[in-house]
Amino acid sequence: MSLSHFLADDQLSKTQILGLIALAKDIKQHPTSYNQKLAGKSVAMIFEKPSLRTHVSFDMGINKLGGHALYLGQQNGKLGERERVSDYAKNLSCYADAIVARVFENSAIEGLAQHASVPVINALCNVYHPCQALADFVTLSEHFTDLSAVKLAYIGDGNNVSNSLMLMAAILGVDFTLICPEGHSPSAVMLTKVQQLANASGSVFTFTSNINNIGKQDAIYTDTWVSMGDENSSEKANILAKFMPYQVNHQLMDKAQASIVMHCQPAHLEEEITTALFDDEEKSVVFQEAENRMWAQCAVLVSLFANE
Ligand code: NVA
Repeated sequence: MSLSHFLADDQLSKTQILGLIALAKDIKQHPTSYNQKLAGKSVAMIFEKPSLRTHVSFDMGINKLGGHALYLGQQNGKLGERERVSDYAKNLSCYADAIVARVFENSAIEGLAQHASVPVINALCNVYHPCQALADFVTLSEHFTDLSAVKLAYIGDGNNVSNSLMLMAAILGVDFTLICPEGHSPSAVMLTKVQQLANASGSVFTFTSNINNIGKQDAIYTDTWVSMGDENSSEKANILAKFMPYQVNHQLMDKAQASIVMHCQPAHLEEEITTALFDDEEKSVVFQEAENRMWAQCAVLVSLFANE
């Protein structure tokens, strides 16, 4: 399988996603078989926002594939300010074999992909976090033999993480329940897109603001109530009060009879998830998700270079 870019979950087919999941698991099991796949290749990694897992998992993953990663932090400011996104893309294409970018605006990712002559990977923007969703479905496939029978719920802020997760679920045919407080839903365009994809795959997509409608779930997922770039300290108290009924804790897990809890991290303990649940070694798969970021991204990189 070959890809030209890895930008947004809804640009991938079910076959491509399943192929990436299988490849990620194979690289995880047999890393030495892939240790020359990126030999002689350099990957430029642009980070407009902070990162721990994404930065380290890309850097170490690229190293495991025999390639070289270059970290470009915020010293060049916001993309598009010091020089045009198109010029940034064209310059990096002179040196790099691929570009990984974590950006504020999805338009910057699209601009990079439009103007770069090398593959671009979205390492998080305001709309999508496809590397995370891919790693999460690798993790789910390690816990449940039949992915299509999994029931997954996301509770909290409708954001980049929930967008990518529900798009991928809908494409894969995974039943997905999205529960967001009123005023914190994804865009209407995103909800329509997910519903259309769910209709096509035959999965059930449920969207509600009523936490009591959680129903029976296999896995419950949550993320920060305030994403990077959305911080507004004067609103913090309101957000906490509004979201507290949506906290993911043992009581909610029991109510939904869910066996695993997921979080992309960083976690805000005692806000979106209790410390006791996050640290529960029976139920919490958060570090498995973190590890799978590296294998999932290795699968993306290997696939991007497969057509050479
Ligand atoms: N929704 C979070 C994800 C962090 C990995 C954010 O964008 O800040």
